[in-house]
Amino acid sequence: MLVLGIESSCDETGVALYDSEAGLLAHRLHTQIAMHSEYGGVVPELASRDHIRRVLPLTENCLAQAGKQLSDIDAIAYTAGPGLAGALLVGASVANAMAFALGKPTIAVHHLEGHLLSPCLADPAPEFPFVALLVSGGHTQLMAVHGIGQYELLGETVDDAAGEAFDKSAKLLGLGYPGGPALSKLADTGDVNRFTLPRPMLHTPNLDMSFSGLKTAVLNLVTQQSPLDDTTRADICAAFQAAIVEVLLKKSLKALKQTGMKRLVIAGGVGANRQLRSALNDAAKKRGFSVFYPPLELCTDNGAMIAYAGAQRLSEQQSAGSFAVKPRWDLA
Ligand code: KG4
Ligand code: ZN
Repeated sequence: MLVLGIESSCDETGVALYDSEAGLLAHRLHTQIAMHSEYGGVVPELASRDHIRRVLPLTENCLAQAGKQLSDIDAIAYTAGPGLAGALLVGASVANAMAFALGKPTIAVHHLEGHLLSPCLADPAPEFPFVALLVSGGHTQLMAVHGIGQYELLGETVDDAAGEAFDKSAKLLGLGYPGGPALSKLADTGDVNRFTLPRPMLHTPNLDMSFSGLKTAVLNLVTQQSPLDDTTRADICAAFQAAIVEVLLKKSLKALKQTGMKRLVIAGGVGANRQLRSALNDAAKKRGFSVFYPPLELCTDNGAMIAYAGAQRLSEQQSAGSFAVKPRWDLA
């Protein structure tokens, strides 16, 4: 079965072709980061308009890369939520219009399920069950994943998402948008011992997390140290990254202990963070569990994870015709 996947929930247009036998055949991505950066964040209306411009050329590109025709597609999966309503509607409308014209079914995919299953596109792929740490710009959750569609929420952030904390702190440090990758790069050159930032909720018995206090602590430090020189900026980045990585690591370990599971899966944009990966890999070696990541280019939003999740849910396919998007939608 050949599934076309379309992702348009935020500021990335992603299109991919996944074959249930042959695997991922092609994936194409257009990021709107440059367009939104001058506003310091995503402008929803601009995002929707750009998705409209990009989605069909990217689809043609994918088909050409895979050597396939539109008529070869068996089903079309699209991100139905959560996300920006207008942006979601672009992917949903295009997917349903194409499916209608082709007489094929559509599959409405939950964006977080896409992230959650994205490590299954890597080799080796994790077997079920596993604990998933979902760390993106909009969500930070720990889930017990028992199988496709069997998701149990173990804990989540009570305020900002980890990626949001990275981005907001980066903004305070004058690092542009989205600042997560820039902050992380600078952190690698900083002195991690110069400043100590709080680790909110580190020792609470549950698996919930909190990151908004950390961002406030960065603001206080920036004000205190102002005007910032390059060394101080890098040292603050290192302190911030160490704090956030420690919280994510400790909570993940607690989730493994609580569930008795031996596999940990990391998904979402913050999963690209090198320091987080190295802390998790060290802990896995010491404690004897396995840790799985999506291929690096599939950590952030993409069409491949939507095509893959759609292919796993083909049995629940809905017929083309009416559709709705869900800007707010809980996975579990
Ligand atoms: O999963 P994603 O593409 O979008 C959402 O669904 O939210 O994640 C984007 C987030 C942004 O907050 C970005 O700053 C963060 O992932 N991010 C990183 C890194 N790469 C991306 N954060 C820390 N270190 C990185 N290397
Ligand atoms: Zn995402």
